[in-house]
Amino acid sequence: MISSLKRIVDGSRALTHLNYYKGQLAYQFGLHRHLSGATHGRFDLNESLAYVRGVFDDYVRYSGEPSSSLAGKRVMEIGPGDNLGVGLLFLAHGATSYLAVDRFSPQADPERNEQIYAALLDGMTDEQRSRVADCLEPVGQGRARITGSRLAAQYGSAIEDLGRSVASESVDVIISRAVLEHVYDPVRAWQVMASVLHPDGQMWHKVDLRHHGFYDQFHPLEFLTVPTRIWDRVTQPDPTLNRRRVDCFDQLAKQAFQESEVYLTHVLDHEEMVPHRKQLEFGRDYDDEDLQLVRAIHPRLAPEFRDLSDEQLLVTGIFVICRRKRSGS
Ligand SMILES: C[S@@+](CC[C@H](N)C(=O)[O-])C[C@H]1O[C@@H](n2cnc3c(N)ncnc32)[C@H](O)[C@@H]1O
Repeated sequence: MISSLKRIVDGSRALTHLNYYKGQLAYQFGLHRHLSGATHGRFDLNESLAYVRGVFDDYVRYSGEPSSSLAGKRVMEIGPGDNLGVGLLFLAHGATSYLAVDRFSPQADPERNEQIYAALLDGMTDEQRSRVADCLEPVGQGRARITGSRLAAQYGSAIEDLGRSVASESVDVIISRAVLEHVYDPVRAWQVMASVLHPDGQMWHKVDLRHHGFYDQFHPLEFLTVPTRIWDRVTQPDPTLNRRRVDCFDQLAKQAFQESEVYLTHVLDHEEMVPHRKQLEFGRDYDDEDLQLVRAIHPRLAPEFRDLSDEQLLVTGIFVICRRKRSGS
């Protein structure tokens, strides 16, 4: 019964819009909770450790900076979600401070988090452990709790509205993963991040431009056909999806930074491309079927996406690395 109802809803665009809108109303009336960022509740301890280490390693790999260059850096993470393990690893590699800024307070499992912090500590070298000795306190068997001010989080702050609570030019590295597609005003968010960044600073952002499950039963880019007035109703406030494409982030990076690189991580609904690409290659990263998919939907796209090229539409995930000119260079 439920599965045949779902089939009927999934088969109709109008019912699908209504179904998503119903979800937004339920969220606004407190009947359903914000879950974006509640990553670690789904994982077992080993998966959590692999996730946190993988995220950290990705930042180091694609930034092109040796991990030793993190020494002395003040790091800010936008939208860390339910666990600050990535920040702990930045501090263990020599960063002096880490501040997380998240619009929501994700549902977190404090006991699981304490296990993750203790296990990350266990896997560190003596030198790394001594660097974070003031950030964690043991709380019983196999658990450690965050303490002190070097590993800090500010929940309930959207990056767009950070305003004066973070001093201008006071951060050396700004990072995010799976966040910038969710900010409601990416241009404003970019301006705020650029303003708190030191003149020597860098930003490393991984952005997931996929459909996030919206309308994908019709086509992986169907969500780009939905008129903005409907889109805003069905995806706001949770999880906001701004639908900006690779061209937007490329432009923002070029406008505010002397150097930038955009690595391509995904094509349509395919598996992640590892290593990430600087350019797509026909035959390796996409094929005729993908091109046909993109060309078939092009005439139906909402007006703001119609000028995009086939390749810009194929790209559904990026890692943007931005560097300011070093002082003196
Ligand atoms: C998909 S989760 C990603 C969590 C984590 N970075 C990860 O990779 O597991 C997106 C996170 O971004 C946060 N977020 C969404 N919009 C934001 C905004 N405007 N400013 C700051 N954080 C935001 C959400 O609360 C959530 O924690």
